[in-house]
Amino acid sequence: VPPARPLKSLAPFPMGVCAKSPQFDDPAWVQLVTTHFSQLTPEWEMKMEYILADSPDRFRFDGPDTIAAFARHYGLRLHGHTLIWYAQGEQAFAGLDRARFIAAFDRYIAIVAGRYRGQVVSWDVVNEPVTDEGSELRDCHWSRMLGLDGYMIRAFHKARAADPNAVLFLNDYNLENTPRKGATFLKLAERLMKAGAPIGGIGSQSHLDIRIPPGQIRTFFRDAASLGLPIHVSELDASLRSGERVDLRSRSQRIEQQTARVGELAEAFMAVPERQRFAFSVWGARDTDSFLRQGERDDGQNQPVLFDAAGKPAPLYAAVTGAF
Ligand code: XIL
Repeated sequence: VPPARPLKSLAPFPMGVCAKSPQFDDPAWVQLVTTHFSQLTPEWEMKMEYILADSPDRFRFDGPDTIAAFARHYGLRLHGHTLIWYAQGEQAFAGLDRARFIAAFDRYIAIVAGRYRGQVVSWDVVNEPVTDEGSELRDCHWSRMLGLDGYMIRAFHKARAADPNAVLFLNDYNLENTPRKGATFLKLAERLMKAGAPIGGIGSQSHLDIRIPPGQIRTFFRDAASLGLPIHVSELDASLRSGERVDLRSRSQRIEQQTARVGELAEAFMAVPERQRFAFSVWGARDTDSFLRQGERDDGQNQPVLFDAAGKPAPLYAAVTGAF
C-alpha cells in the first residue's frame, strides 16, 4: 500500500490539526502531523485555564511557548486558541471589583496576544458565545461584568491592539448541527461588525453530529459565506457514538453516515469562495489523539478523525480528500 498522499498537498487551503506539547515526544505523531498538516492549534495550552494558574496576574507560558517553537521549527502556521471563553479559566477573575476586573481582562488579552504577535496568524478571540439551545448568548462571568455583546466587542478591540496583523475569529460549535444556533451565531457576527468590532473571520468548530439531515451543513456554509468573512473549519471531528441512546444502527451504517456528512462538510467548504477559505482543521491527528478518546468518553472504538491509531488513513481521510 503506498503511503497516503499528504493532505496539505491535496487541499487548496491550509490543513490544520490540534496539538498538545507532550505529543512532540511521539515520533509517529510528529511524522504524521508534519507530513499532512500546515497549521497547528494548541488543544489546551493557550487557554486561560493553562496560562493563569488561579490569579489574573500569574502567567504560565511554558506549554504555549513549546508549541510556538515547534510550529516555527516545522514551518507550520499557528492559530491561537482561545482568548475569551465562558469555560476553563474565568475562575481566576472571580471576586474582582469592576475596575480591577476590566484592567485584568484588558491586560490578559494584551499580554497573551502580544506575546505571540508576529507568529500567531489568527486568534479565536471569543469562543462559544451562543447557548446550546441556540437562540441566546451565554450568560457568563464576562457577560455579567461587561454586557452580552460588550465583552466580545471589548475583547476584539484589545486583541486588535495587541496584534494588529492577526485574523481575529469568533468561533462556536453546533452551527451546522443546530440551525437555530447557526443563525444566532451569524447574526451575532454581523451585529458585532456593525458595532465596529474588528472581526476578521468566523470559525465553525464542526464537531459534527452524524445524524443531521443531508444538506444542513451545506446550507450553513452558504449562509456563513454570505457575510463575506474568511471561514475556518476549526475543530472537525465526527463521533460514531452520537445518538447511541436513540438509535442502534450497526457500526458500518454509522460509518456510512459519518463519511457522508464529513464529505458534505468538505464539499461545502470547497464551495466557499476561495479568498474566504481560511483553513480546515481537524481536532486530533489520530483517532487515539481525539478528545473523544480520552478518559470517560473513550469506548476504545470511536473513529472520529482522519487517521487511525496506527496513523493510517481512516474512512474520513477519503471522505475529505474526495472533495478536494
Ligand atoms: C477540548 C480539548 O480537546 C481537551 O483536551 C480539553 O481538555 C478541553 O477542551 N471546543 C473547543 C475546544 O473550543 O477547546 C475543546 O477542546 C473542544 C470543544
